[in-house]
Amino acid sequence: MYLLIPAAGVGRRMGSDRNKLLIPLWGQPILAWTLRAAEAASSITWIGLVGQAVDWPEVNDLLKTLALTTPVQWIQGGDTRQASVFNGLKALPANADRVLIHDGARCLATPDLFDRCAAVLQEVPGLIAAIPVKDTIKVVNSDGRTTATPDRSQLWAAQTPQGFWVDKIKHCHEQGQEQGLQVTDDAALFEHFNLPVQVVEGEESNLKVTTPMDLAIAEFILRQRYPHLQS
Ligand code: CTP
Ligand code: MG
Repeated sequence: MYLLIPAAGVGRRMGSDRNKLLIPLWGQPILAWTLRAAEAASSITWIGLVGQAVDWPEVNDLLKTLALTTPVQWIQGGDTRQASVFNGLKALPANADRVLIHDGARCLATPDLFDRCAAVLQEVPGLIAAIPVKDTIKVVNSDGRTTATPDRSQLWAAQTPQGFWVDKIKHCHEQGQEQGLQVTDDAALFEHFNLPVQVVEGEESNLKVTTPMDLAIAEFILRQRYPHLQS
């Protein structure tokens, strides 16, 4: 299974002065944890790492240290996640018919989650990992007043991996670009063009490291998961 890792952001909400994926989490860059999980997933045979040129020297050093057995191809990122993923899709080898897309910032996804998504993608053209929301969600208008309370039993929090048949998701991205659609995940493009997106049970620990608090929570989870490791 081909895997694209969008890693070309800047991490504005982390408040860091550089790409958050290169800041340390329990002694290793966030991106190292993501790459190790992908490497450990037996279904993943190729990794396309979508990044910014400014980060390449540091990423290159990291890749040398990690010495993954899975081949990693560096792909130039874009100004938005959507543009980065589109670049990644265009850089896939010609024979790639299915692809998983996984945010570099979701560094706690387990190899098992990758493998489960890869298995389901043999059967369905589109999928996302997701979990039921725990909070009651409100719709709030511009005056700061609540206008609705959607039925929580129908609300799921989207995660990655998201997976697609390559011809279909590429077509969605092309059409999306032509129509000026802006989305925060790839499944939204699939949905826009009325293609089915299957939900795969995600993981509560599969958080997207976005703010400094997420970094602290992620370290806590890693310490619990690998009690024998020191750092
Ligand atoms: N990403 C990307 N290209 C971009 C923007 C984001 O590949 N132009 C990637 C990020 O590196 C991250 C994933 O998309 O792995 C999810 O994005 P997010 O968590 O929002 O990361 P950033 O955009 O870096 O953070 P922020 O929005 O706080 O600036
Ligand atoms: Mg962002």
